[in-house]
Amino acid sequence: MAKRPSKTRCIGILTSGGDCPGLNAAIRGITKAGIQVYGMDVVGIRDGFRGLVENRMLPLDYKDLSGVLTLGGTILGTSRDKPKKMLMGGRVMDMTATAVENARNAGFDCLVCLGGGGTQKNAFHLHKAGGLNVMTLPKTIDNDVAGTDVTFGFDTALTIAAEAIDRLHTTATSHDRIIVVELMGHNSGWLALGAGIAGGADVILIPEIPYDLLAVRECLLERQRRFGRKFSIIVVAEGAVSREEADRKLDASRKKDLARAAREAGAEAGANGEAAADEPNGPVAFDEYKLVQESLASRLARQLQELTRTEARVTSLGHVQRGGVPTAADRLLCTRLGVKAADLLAAGVYNVLVAVQNNECVAVPLEEVVGVKKTVPVDHPWISTALKVGTCLGVAPGTLG
Ligand code: F6P
Repeated sequence: MAKRPSKTRCIGILTSGGDCPGLNAAIRGITKAGIQVYGMDVVGIRDGFRGLVENRMLPLDYKDLSGVLTLGGTILGTSRDKPKKMLMGGRVMDMTATAVENARNAGFDCLVCLGGGGTQKNAFHLHKAGGLNVMTLPKTIDNDVAGTDVTFGFDTALTIAAEAIDRLHTTATSHDRIIVVELMGHNSGWLALGAGIAGGADVILIPEIPYDLLAVRECLLERQRRFGRKFSIIVVAEGAVSREEADRKLDASRKKDLARAAREAGAEAGANGEAAADEPNGPVAFDEYKLVQESLASRLARQLQELTRTEARVTSLGHVQRGGVPTAADRLLCTRLGVKAADLLAAGVYNVLVAVQNNECVAVPLEEVVGVKKTVPVDHPWISTALKVGTCLGVAPGTLG
């Protein structure tokens, strides 16, 4: 097949951050269209930005992409490493220059990075600090990348989570129990809200709406009083917080801002040059507290069992939500985004996120996306939808729109 003209001859592709179903479908879309339609050279980079820094690359051939459309995970491997602060031999180092040099030596006209919010940031950093041409595709089950209506991986996670809620319903009903289901989503509640609505949860708690435990108790007791239902399904995003925790978080972040301002003032005054934990070239920080604390779902189950005198159980879906075969909707989305990426590369369009807006694949400048988290607005239609079917969102009735 005669090749169409292309302003891009060679690209590197990496996948970074948590994996999710659909990554291989997207790699396949870019690579197949890139090679077959535009005659590009495509090089896969192993394990995200770490592989770029460590120069671990493999040329991708058209036939390497056979059979990966339905495969979960990523054939390239992934990591959460950032070029700017990378753990190298026990120390946190700024490896930006090495990453840029390796990309240049490999002959990339553009570095294509598939990932979530952190990946957009890291890719943009390589562009700003090192002058590399970059392009990103929006991957995450959290659906929290700004500039796109949807991220790939979200539909699959939603399907898995809704099916799990369906299954928990039958056992909760049989035993007259409360079941608290914890879903992923540290900062955004798209997955918990979507799966909770699709699965008919009685209560949905998301990070965007700090919950009032007594309002949740009231909702459960009201179900018992009005409908004689002792069982309840509570879907909680892992990042949901109570009102009290939200207030404490706000105080802590104010204190952090003050401390940062004081540190910066100290640094300007020429104070000692020792790097803080997790700063480039500094010691590695270890968050012990994170490892030992009781999970949110367990705590909620314990509290609600006491408050309602109803037996409670906990299910944490964890990484099951990120594993396995992508749904047809995700495969379609990934293939569309991948092919659009190849078209944009051929046209010489760089430093953009390949996004979906109003069901069209479009290029969004990275500076509009980087550092912005797409959380659930309280006036989003999914919120009013949940409320109108009687779902408690962790606050007293009438508090939200
Ligand atoms: O990729 C996003 C995410 O799925 C979050 O919802 C979750 O908190 C996080 O990944 C956990 O990932 P890991 O265990 O790989 O660090």
